[in-house]
Amino acid sequence: MIRQSTGIPGLNEMLGGGLPSGQTIAVIGPAGSGKTTLALQFIWDGLTKDELCMFLSLEENENKLIETASKYGWDFKKYLDAGTLSLIKLDALDITNTITHLKTDLPHIMDSTGVSRVAIDPFSIIEMAYENERERRVNIFDLCSTLNQTGATTMITSEIGSDMHSSVYKVIEHVVDGVILLHRIRESESRNVLHAIEVVKMIWTNHSKEIKPYDITPAGMNVHVRSKMY
Ligand SMILES: Nc1ncnc2c1ncn2[C@@H]1O[C@H](COP(=O)(O)OP(=O)(O)O)[C@@H](O)[C@H]1O
Ligand SMILES: [Mg+2]
Repeated sequence: MIRQSTGIPGLNEMLGGGLPSGQTIAVIGPAGSGKTTLALQFIWDGLTKDELCMFLSLEENENKLIETASKYGWDFKKYLDAGTLSLIKLDALDITNTITHLKTDLPHIMDSTGVSRVAIDPFSIIEMAYENERERRVNIFDLCSTLNQTGATTMITSEIGSDMHSSVYKVIEHVVDGVILLHRIRESESRNVLHAIEVVKMIWTNHSKEIKPYDITPAGMNVHVRSKMY
C-alpha cells in the first residue's frame, strides 16, 4: 500500500510511514490548534513531490492562503503559477450550492486532472449546513464516499466539540478512514498551554496509540515523537 507523507516526520512515524493513499482523513481540534497549518503542510509536501494538489477553503481567499503558507516558508505561488496547485475559495454563505458543486463537479475535475491530494478547510462549515442529525449523517457520508472514489488523499478539518475528544456533531469520525485529534492542554491557569496530537484511528495502520507533544513553529508543525507528554 502506498503511503503519503503528511509533511511532518514525527507524525509520519506515528502513522507507520504516512497517510494511506486515496483515503479520507479528518483532523479535529480546537481553534488555533493548527488544523489549517497541518492541511497546508500536507499540501506543501505533495507540491514539493510534483503531485497535483487542491486546497479548498471555506474561510480564506487565494491571496490569504498564499500569504499564510509563505509565513511558514512555503511558496504556494510558484506551484499555482506552474499549474500543479489549485486554490479554491468555496462560498460559505451559499453552502447548499457549494455542497452540490463538491458532489457533482469536483469528482470530474479531479478525475480528469489526476489530483493526488485535496484539503477541505474548515469542513465544519459543511457539517453545520444540515438541519438535523439524520440529514447530516446521510449527506456527509455521501460526500465522503464521493471524495473517496476520486482516488485522491483527502484531508478535512473539523472543530472539536465541548467534550474535547470528538467533533462537534460526532459524525465525521464514523464516516472517514482516519482521525487525527489535536488537543490543547492547560495544566493550570499559571502554566503554559501544551499541544498534543493523537491518532484516533487510521485504516490499514498499526498506528501509535500514544499522545505526543507538538508545536507550531515558523517552519510549520513539528511533532516530538520521542517525547512523553508529562
Ligand atoms: N510563524 C509561526 N510561528 C509559530 N507559531 C505560529 C506561526 N504561525 C502561526 N502560529 C500558531 O498557529 C496558530 C494558528 O494555527 P491554525 O493552523 O490557523 O489553527 P486552526 O486552523 O486550528 O485554527 C496561531 O494561533 C499560532 O499559535
Ligand atoms: Mg483554521
